[in-house]
Amino acid sequence: MRFTVTGTEATHLGIRLVRAFTGKPVVIRFADNFRGWHDHVSFPATGAAPGIPQGVQDGMLVLPPGDIEAIHAALTTRSDIAAVMVEPTGASLGHAPLPAGFLARLRTLTTAHGALLFFDEVISGFRCSPGGAQQFYGITPDLASLAKIVAGGFSVAALAGKAGILAALDYRKTGAGAIVSPRVMHQGTYNASPVSAAAGIATLKIIRDTGAIARANHTAAALRAGMNAAIARKGINWCIYGEFSDFRIYAGAPGETATVDAIYSGAIPAARLKGGMSAELIQQLRCGLLSEGVDIAGWPGGLTSCTHSDAGVERTVAAFAAALDMMGEEGVL
Ligand SMILES: Cc1ncc(COP(=O)(O)O)c(C=O)c1O
Repeated sequence: MRFTVTGTEATHLGIRLVRAFTGKPVVIRFADNFRGWHDHVSFPATGAAPGIPQGVQDGMLVLPPGDIEAIHAALTTRSDIAAVMVEPTGASLGHAPLPAGFLARLRTLTTAHGALLFFDEVISGFRCSPGGAQQFYGITPDLASLAKIVAGGFSVAALAGKAGILAALDYRKTGAGAIVSPRVMHQGTYNASPVSAAAGIATLKIIRDTGAIARANHTAAALRAGMNAAIARKGINWCIYGEFSDFRIYAGAPGETATVDAIYSGAIPAARLKGGMSAELIQQLRCGLLSEGVDIAGWPGGLTSCTHSDAGVERTVAAFAAALDMMGEEGVL
């Protein structure tokens, strides 16, 4: 385990480490998946990458999200792939879920071809389950970046991984007793700062010793069920989905079946899930909810925490139903 201050630094350090460990230069990541803002993860699959040197771009292979065949092709035709980096829930904690069986196949493929599997668990760590998405899905990566919940919102993040890989960050003693610098450098004034570390210990004790994660997941499931029931009563082609302590609102296009099953079977493309609802429609929904005293995130959707109550769920569902009524009366739906 190695501590950084932000998730961006944890993914940056992980990329450096997988290259150093494997001796290979290229890391695969998915387009339209946020991994922080450092140079290696801040350019699209094609098109302009202002401020990012070509050499850095050459070190990343940006593939379509969830495309296991594209990964398979890269791993079988090239010998320069150090690792595959993926958010195990699919982009942004499952806003665009991965196909069923994807992670298991990816684990097998990466192992078979000598590439490392790097999970970005900046959001999913300690949210999907106390052991993150890797525990929930039962797939163990070689490295994982963690942030956000790891210290209850304090500015600390971490890179966790197999000891043999992280050892490249350690100072070593030679047989003659001399201290040798790490193979991979990682200095920083605020890395593992005492205040953040104390917040981290306190947070992780709560996660270990209470049912906080289960409670937050249960609350979100109740919210999704209540909101989907309101949608069914209204008879509109919308759907609320999510797998953990989250809910996402999706408005189906004409002729499209917007159901939870359709979303998790991959019938609705990632680009639709992440950008399918117009800004105007989201704004109208948020205005309706705000007039009932409830606000949501603009994805649109939200996250639940262990402090949200059953009464809060009821109030949110009632506000959502009222907002749909208002939108219906105004002819927006
Ligand atoms: C999946 C993922 N990776 C990396 C990051 C970057 O983390 P940070 O904002 O702490 O730099 C984020 C931030 O939201 C994220 O969601």
